[in-house]
Amino acid sequence: MIEPGGVIGILGGGQLGRMTALAAANLGYRCHIFCPEANSPAMQVSSRATVADYDDAAALARFADAVDVVTFEFENVPATAAAVLAKHRAVHPRPEILQICQDRVKEKDFLRAHGVGTTDYRKITNTTDLTEALSTLGASILKTARWGYDGKGQIALKPGDDATAAWARLKTDEAILEARVDFACEISAVLARGIDGAIASYVPVENRHTDGILANTVAPAAIAPSLAARADDIARRIAVALGLVGVLAVEMFVTKSGDVLVNELAPRPHNSGHWTIDACVASQFEQLVRAVCGLPLGSTERYCDAVMTNLIGADVAMWRDAVAEPNAKLHLYGKVDALPGRKMGHVTRLKPRA
Ligand SMILES: Nc1ncnc2c1ncn2[C@@H]1O[C@H](COP(=O)(O)OP(=O)(O)O)[C@@H](O)[C@H]1O
Ligand SMILES: [Mg+2]
Repeated sequence: MIEPGGVIGILGGGQLGRMTALAAANLGYRCHIFCPEANSPAMQVSSRATVADYDDAAALARFADAVDVVTFEFENVPATAAAVLAKHRAVHPRPEILQICQDRVKEKDFLRAHGVGTTDYRKITNTTDLTEALSTLGASILKTARWGYDGKGQIALKPGDDATAAWARLKTDEAILEARVDFACEISAVLARGIDGAIASYVPVENRHTDGILANTVAPAAIAPSLAARADDIARRIAVALGLVGVLAVEMFVTKSGDVLVNELAPRPHNSGHWTIDACVASQFEQLVRAVCGLPLGSTERYCDAVMTNLIGADVAMWRDAVAEPNAKLHLYGKVDALPGRKMGHVTRLKPRA
């Protein structure tokens, strides 16, 4: 167990690292952020920082020496960096999980191998693959296998579309083509799993996206209890299959026929779990800290229902209204430039439970 006073090393300096560092501070831990950009959102609230590239072996070695445990705040940290660190320090979740979750093909192969339902998909490495797959899958979405987020690196296609042009536009050597799901709604299940294998899950939530970016999360999702239980069970099974220590978010589609298909995994705190900061006994960020330090997990019970709204790009100007609203909790990430599509903060509106 790493006791309060210990140092948690975090790969990545974005808002997820920031909110993890704030939760860590509440429990008396210090955080050391490793990230290529100076003055990142996480660094602004952490006691130590290393500004270096993820392939800087000397910087990684010094970082490993300076921390008691390592975690990461987004899955696009090179898995090689996590693997190098794992030789010196415990890394949670383990680097093999990063390898699976940062490659959409590997991730879906993993899910299928463990009997988890997903939409139909094909691995694509050239125009011929794409033409063939498109004629089989019909209306679909072409996604880069790696490095995509917030809907980036995705092209919607239908049979008859120009496969050569689409492939050239994606600028990648490996992609996935996924059959488009005509979903009733999108939900996610967020849970934490401790070093001892104990799991604590939050109630499944509904996610609404605009232009591929999460706009709102409604907690809890307005779905039948049996469906919520199924989503929870799927997420638990995946966490066990991964051998995860940390936090896992499972994004899912609920189809119009009532099926649950897994869309993607995030082995870290997730945007759809931000509401837990203000509405639950222990937030997803506190759970990550507890899990990687070997503390017992906290309670995921919620005090109230909540709706989380992302402040994206120029939306951040709404902070003036949000800060004056009685039941709204405002979170800003300390980012300077409100670029289009950039997550600048979020507001959680709390609703007393009926
Ligand atoms: N196969 C699909 N069918 C229907 N909608 C999809 C599909 N894949 C992605 N989407 C839509 O695009 C959003 C973003 O895609 P996702 O695969 O989750 O990538 P990202 O890593 O950018 O979040 C999803 O939340 C969903 O709204
Ligand atoms: Mg997603």
